[in-house]
Amino acid sequence: MKAFVLRSYGSPDYLELTDVDEPVPGDDEVLVRVGATSVNPYDWHQMRGQPYVARLMPGGMGLRGPKLSILGCDLAGRVEAAGQNVTGFGPGDEVFALLPQGCFAEYVSVPQSLLAYKPKNLSYEQAAAVPMAAITAMLSLRDAARLQPGQTVLVNGASGGVGTFAVQIARALGANVTAVCSAPNAGLVRSLGAAEVIDYTTTDFTRHEQRYDLLLDIAGSRRVRAARRALKSEGTFVAVGGPAGRWLQPAGHMFAALALAPLVSQRVVMTDTVRCTHKKENLVTLTELIEDGKVTPVIGRSYPFGDIPDAIRHQEQGHARGKIVVTV
Ligand SMILES: NC(=O)c1ccc[n+]([C@@H]2O[C@H](COP(=O)([O-])OP(=O)(O)OC[C@H]3O[C@@H](n4cnc5c(N)ncnc54)[C@H](OP(=O)(O)O)[C@@H]3O)[C@@H](O)[C@H]2O)c1
Repeated sequence: MKAFVLRSYGSPDYLELTDVDEPVPGDDEVLVRVGATSVNPYDWHQMRGQPYVARLMPGGMGLRGPKLSILGCDLAGRVEAAGQNVTGFGPGDEVFALLPQGCFAEYVSVPQSLLAYKPKNLSYEQAAAVPMAAITAMLSLRDAARLQPGQTVLVNGASGGVGTFAVQIARALGANVTAVCSAPNAGLVRSLGAAEVIDYTTTDFTRHEQRYDLLLDIAGSRRVRAARRALKSEGTFVAVGGPAGRWLQPAGHMFAALALAPLVSQRVVMTDTVRCTHKKENLVTLTELIEDGKVTPVIGRSYPFGDIPDAIRHQEQGHARGKIVVTV
């Protein structure tokens, strides 16, 4: 089968489209033919081995070279074959999943514990937009923030992959949403349910008079100390992402948030989607919201499989509108 293989850290040019053996599913695994995948900041961090500090973290990236040879963690596709212990999935089933790696390929072997049925009303492209970004939004709002109906939420970085899901999920949970994004995306985030929009190119949300119950900090564009001025004294700050950097960021931004936590009245927490142990359950919950029409993936750009390096180049610029998907 064809796959993009990463043999050493570097730019998107280091992704080599080549023939590799088709994976053979184990007893508890399902072989899925990939219909579509999508690109996340996680992919280029793994591709470049950046930030460098992540190479020193336990369970993180390889020190000198990549641990993952085939990147891509979002999957939507069709089941081709199932291992002998697999129950509930068989050839022809349409599925989606959030995997640690392997989706920039024509086939991938998936543990059944990670696999969920694709929402019936979504194409493969739309479904592939969901796993990483929407699970991150769900974990941040429902679990980390414990968002309650009627609360006010400021979403900083509302027009990207995570942000477009976060606005919709916050609305579905009954919150009142203010979105921070640039002016060209104001109409988009309003259409997703944001009641107010702050244009970050003209207005500093930390200087706004409004105070919120929750700040969902996806962009990490302001220092945590300044950003928490936008919160009520009993509010919650959820650190999701931060500015990109070679050495420390976005990890430094997340650490700064956690270091501040014991010193302030607000609750400061962070989201870690990669280590989430109930990804499949979250996909099932998201499927209900999607099939009920409460959440719809926003696709900003779509690339053919052979152009995955270009898709990642676009992602690296940090101004994606909704999700960047890839048809396989
Ligand atoms: N903690 C976790 O488990 C987890 C999981 C997934 C992702 N993340 C992190 O979350 C972050 C976002 O991921 P993503 O997939 O949503 O990225 P993305 O799709 O690339 O979105 C980036 C968005 O950030 C916006 N943005 C850029 N500068 C901004 C600023 N100064 N103020 C407000 N918004 C700004 C851009 O809007 P404009 O085009 O208008 O500039 C764009 O819409 C990344 O740092 C990623 O690593 C963390």
